[in-house]
Amino acid sequence: MGGKLGTLFARAGHEVVFSYARSDRKLKRLAREAKGKAWAGTPEDATREADALLLAVHWSRVDDVLKQAGDVSGKAIVSCSLPMNADDSGLVIAHTSSGAEALARKVRRAHVVSAFGTVPSEVLFSVYQGRRKAKRPSLVYCGDHQGAKDLAATLIRDVGFDPVDAGPLRIARYLEPFTLLVAQLAYEVEGGPELAYRFERFGK
Ligand SMILES: NC(=O)c1ccc[n+]([C@@H]2O[C@H](COP(=O)([O-])OP(=O)(O)OC[C@H]3O[C@@H](n4cnc5c(N)ncnc54)[C@H](OP(=O)(O)O)[C@@H]3O)[C@@H](O)[C@H]2O)c1
Repeated sequence: MGGKLGTLFARAGHEVVFSYARSDRKLKRLAREAKGKAWAGTPEDATREADALLLAVHWSRVDDVLKQAGDVSGKAIVSCSLPMNADDSGLVIAHTSSGAEALARKVRRAHVVSAFGTVPSEVLFSVYQGRRKAKRPSLVYCGDHQGAKDLAATLIRDVGFDPVDAGPLRIARYLEPFTLLVAQLAYEVEGGPELAYRFERFGK
């Protein structure tokens, strides 16, 4: 998710720092192939001057990456990370809270927005290619800080989706299980993982 979204953010004209992988070579390759204003760096480098941080790691890595990121006060943290168990078979937080809310409690001085986690990574480049089409797929997001949400909406639009503001961060309690439905349709049902969704109103 981080590699693909970072690449698309860079192609859309944003400055991007790719960070957090076991191999620096991978981060350098991502930066080179993104063909925009993109660099490889440490999580601390990524945090230093960024307006927004994309958190795209397995739930078990969140504490480690936050520790490496350093001071995230005032930053928008756009998270697509789901609170999955070790073998990715189920959510470890659900219904009465969400991964996004648990994250917000860890970084009280940052502004968490839950976004991008509701689509499989496999669809991202196709959505970007189709970004000038009249009918774009939806992408739901939620958060408690308007500035951070505005920033997330810009990134969502730049990747080619129609941002759908689902409200405060606690709505991630519904958004995260919804993602498992999308994953079921993407990976377990015929048709392949290049799947996105679109909400429409059918009243008059
Ligand atoms: N994949 C999807 O379609 C999708 C969709 C929705 C939400 N999500 C959520 O998004 C998050 C990221 O998923 P993903 O599929 O993008 O995961 P991923 O491909 O495994 O990427 C995770 C990143 O974390 C790095 N990493 C893992 N362990 C590390 C360690 N010990 N030290 C340093 N870096 C380490 C990986 O680097 P390496 O290259 O070294 O492995 C990689 O850069 C997860 O929370 C997932 O539930 C994923």
